[in-house]
Amino acid sequence: MADAGPEQNSRPSPSATVRANNAEDMRRLGVRLGQAMIVGDVVALVGPLGAGKTTFAQGLAQGLGVAPHRHVASPSFALVNEHPGRTPFVHVDFYRLRTRAELPELGIEEAYDRAATAIEWADRFPDALPADHLRITLVVQESGCRRLDLQPTGPRSKALAAALAIT
Ligand SMILES: Nc1ncnc2c1ncn2[C@@H]1O[C@H](COP(=O)(O)OP(=O)(O)OP(=O)(O)O)[C@@H](O)[C@H]1O
Ligand SMILES: [Mg+2]
Repeated sequence: MADAGPEQNSRPSPSATVRANNAEDMRRLGVRLGQAMIVGDVVALVGPLGAGKTTFAQGLAQGLGVAPHRHVASPSFALVNEHPGRTPFVHVDFYRLRTRAELPELGIEEAYDRAATAIEWADRFPDALPADHLRITLVVQESGCRRLDLQPTGPRSKALAAALAIT
């Protein structure tokens, strides 16, 4: 469901929202976005514990052509996992990253050049994101369904948001 709205205050309103009624929906949305992603695209996944960030990332992997036998889980131990695919997929998790001094050793800037990237808990280190990225905020609703608020920050992420918001 697309819901266009102008930015009215310091906290930009999302350009569109989509809904995921269950985990399968969440995964399917990830597949749709993954199919539209190319090398250099970055998706910033934001939302509380258990919101569905990894579920969405599993869909992204599928859409990017990562082999189904690859286990796509929260890269909370390694912080960064790379999966070969039609388009390589780099999956990052900032949850256990303590300081920004640890960021360079993750090598994600290099990853931006050779892969499509998704970052869980991206809001913890917003400086690490490229200027053009698609921020997706997962909101857990009272019903348990999730709302995805899409905030593109440049031309590529606008195209990605449009691909995801098609109903
Ligand atoms: N749209 C949805 N509606 C209901 N349940 C969902 C939805 N999306 C995912 N889930 C379920 O929520 C649980 C948590 O999902 P997931 O592990 O993807 O969250 P996460 O945001 O990655 O969590 P963490 O912050 O721990 O990394 C899983 O059981 C998953 O199946
Ligand atoms: Mg996760």
